[in-house]
Amino acid sequence: MAAGKQMGMQPVLDRVLREIRPGRSEIEATAAVSNEVMGRLKKAVPKSVEIILAGSVARGTQTSGNSDIDIFLLFPRSMDKEAMEKEGMRIAKRVVKRAKGESYVIKYAEHPYLQLIFRDPPVKADIVPAYKIRDSFEMGSSVDRTQLHNLFVMGSLSARQKDDVRLLKAFMRFHGVYGAEAEREGFSGYLCELLVHHYGSFAAALGAFCSMRLPLCIDAKSRKTSGDPQVFKRFGSDFVVIDPTDSNRNVAAVVSKAAMARMVLASRRFEASPSARFFYGAEFSDERSMAKLRRIARETGLDIYFATFRVPDISRDIIFQQLGRLEVRLWKSLRESSFDPVLSLHNSRGREAVVAFFLNRYRITAVARQGPEVFMEKACEAFAKRHGTVYVDGYRMVSVDRAQYGNPAELLRAELADDVPSHLSDARLRVNSVPERIAKLVYRKYMEKTVV
Ligand code: CTP
Ligand code: MG
Repeated sequence: MAAGKQMGMQPVLDRVLREIRPGRSEIEATAAVSNEVMGRLKKAVPKSVEIILAGSVARGTQTSGNSDIDIFLLFPRSMDKEAMEKEGMRIAKRVVKRAKGESYVIKYAEHPYLQLIFRDPPVKADIVPAYKIRDSFEMGSSVDRTQLHNLFVMGSLSARQKDDVRLLKAFMRFHGVYGAEAEREGFSGYLCELLVHHYGSFAAALGAFCSMRLPLCIDAKSRKTSGDPQVFKRFGSDFVVIDPTDSNRNVAAVVSKAAMARMVLASRRFEASPSARFFYGAEFSDERSMAKLRRIARETGLDIYFATFRVPDISRDIIFQQLGRLEVRLWKSLRESSFDPVLSLHNSRGREAVVAFFLNRYRITAVARQGPEVFMEKACEAFAKRHGTVYVDGYRMVSVDRAQYGNPAELLRAELADDVPSHLSDARLRVNSVPERIAKLVYRKYMEKTVV
């Protein structure tokens, strides 16, 4: 990157850092809570169990307002997995003080952990049972890696680089690509740490995104890149960041193509004219979302189809995975029936979920379908027999059939009545109008998707 550009960037970054670096009161409140919980845990665990503070709070890479605490209970590797989980949860539950207004929820990653919720200050502390390991080959489950991540990051990043991680997280969060959850399929906190380590700074990492070329493999430990086709094949991805603590893991495995693409575009825009608004600029308002969606429909001439569902109070990752799969399936069905979606999206909050399609106004009577090439004798015969009207296009046979569905609503209703993923209940199709709560979900996602 040209030095001039970086000079224009620095004052902006300094200003943003003052906002996103947690202030003293936040640091103190978080430290008080983590000391309190660690102290209670120390009294409750046997000598063989080690207690460590992990995650971004321990590493000093957290952004203000995101000071949730990750505490790991590290059990001896010799212990049986089930016994370790049970013992870990028993200990974690024992330190919750309900009389002080504390509550907890049991959450699930690869195995259960407890989230302790404080009312004042409003801080959450995850208490995660895991094995004490020194190397990834001893790993019992992927949560065991976190302690190794801690050691690597704390031993590799300077104070300046930790601030650069904060900048990268804030930049990605603002652009909707921060977080490895299924809802985002974006860049995790640990990946941000590795990118800053590899490129050296926030500005250098951003510069790398501006001129990104895939496939790319970053070996975060040696800070080298590789274009070896074998690597991309092995990880099944064209963007690989090898975990310095475990050479079998791609830390960027969940980064979707869309998240990468958004990050590339956002980085270029920021580099062209650095401004704090790329970190927390004027956010769009979701007031009167239904009215806004109606305007979009009017201006584009499109109809909006909303498939709405009730969802249970389970892992958001599972809900978002099911919604994502359903969106892809319905998109394919629409295309196969000659309805070509212009845009689609899914979103969920609380007990509500929605998959929406923006489609042209369709009323069709017949569809053309591609058949086999004429050289495939048997297949051609069968194709001709099955369809009344057939013509050839190049070498290929094409059939003309009466459309099974005259408009997208008929098809979507049939699909929703037929087969919907297990956690999506009360499927309903609505066209061009939904209650404001659902319209907000759709409008927010529409804005996230279309403002690049
Ligand atoms: N972790 C991981 N892969 C994930 C999620 C978590 O390896 N998909 C590990 C990382 O070592 C991470 C730690 O678990 O640092 C804690 O996870 P989380 O709180 O989600 O991330 P943080 O790094 O703490 O980032 P944030 O500032 O967003 O809390
Ligand atoms: Mg964290």
